[in-house]
Amino acid sequence: MSDYLGLFKQELKEGLAEDPKRISSKWFYDKRGDELFVQIMQLPEYYLTRAEEEIFKEQTSQLADSLTGSFEAFDLFELGAGDGQKTFHLLRELDPKKFIYRPIDISSNAVHKLKGTVSFEFPNVQVDPIVGEYFHALEHLKSDRPKAILFMGSNIGNLLDDRANDFLKRLSATMQSGDTLLIGVDLKKPKEIVLPAYNDSAGVTAAFNLNVLERINRELGGDFVVQNFEHAPVYNEEDGIAYSYLRSTKDQRVTIEAINGYYEFSKGEKLFTEISRKYDDAALEVITRDTSLDLMNRFFDEAHLFCDAVYRKR
Ligand SMILES: C[S@@+](CC[C@H](N)C(=O)[O-])C[C@H]1O[C@@H](n2cnc3c(N)ncnc32)[C@H](O)[C@@H]1O
Repeated sequence: MSDYLGLFKQELKEGLAEDPKRISSKWFYDKRGDELFVQIMQLPEYYLTRAEEEIFKEQTSQLADSLTGSFEAFDLFELGAGDGQKTFHLLRELDPKKFIYRPIDISSNAVHKLKGTVSFEFPNVQVDPIVGEYFHALEHLKSDRPKAILFMGSNIGNLLDDRANDFLKRLSATMQSGDTLLIGVDLKKPKEIVLPAYNDSAGVTAAFNLNVLERINRELGGDFVVQNFEHAPVYNEEDGIAYSYLRSTKDQRVTIEAINGYYEFSKGEKLFTEISRKYDDAALEVITRDTSLDLMNRFFDEAHLFCDAVYRKR
């Protein structure tokens, strides 16, 4: 607990000292943030979850074969597992005697809930969850058993390409020859489709973005007046990157006790909270460069909105 608070404080202090000020999207996910994200996944505008779920539902045996076909006994890791709903299609397909499911998530709430659901719905599946930042959880991945790693939901798109490539190099270094990795990515598409996914008409994504300020108030003694900020997403079609910001609606000063910080926000100033990168073949190639990961299969939903790419360590 103190570990995560220490990291939260350190990252917040560093991010708010930057220009533009920044808060990492990983801090979105407390209990309230998890609940809001579950609502986001059901929004008509948020096509990502439905598209990836279609892949997991309609192509389950091909996915299972590509990921684990050559394994006898193995670990199934999942990075940033969230509520794990899409993964359940795979859990249903795999032989429970052969594997241990090891979801990793920074949200202790999400991890504990997921353990409960899996134990209830799949009583024969052994589940061994890990609460933690996936950069720090890499250590847990160093095991002698063969492993398949899931990195779904276009979570990788929260990292800019250099960091994504660096992360995949480090991830690959924990893998042994023959281990597999599934990366789920949202594909590049027109602004008219992407932007509403981050700016839904019911305002759930706005509440999700603003919740990070409420979390800072709750956990770190902040005094953000949440009504003085507004959700401001942008999609740059050329870069294929959606950016989420919180825009200050007035000149204001915010205090955060736990980091002894005072922060001035001017009217219109944008606090950067999240990037969601969209991919094509070239972008996937860039983030997997020099990783010793060979592309084995790609799975698409029927409308080609989303891709699950399976790699094998050389
Ligand atoms: C966008 S949700 C996606 C959940 C799930 N993978 C899916 O596809 O539905 C992101 C999940 O990753 C977790 N997460 C975000 N950043 C993380 C990090 N740096 N380390 C570990 N978990 C992280 C969040 O807590 C959240 O549950």
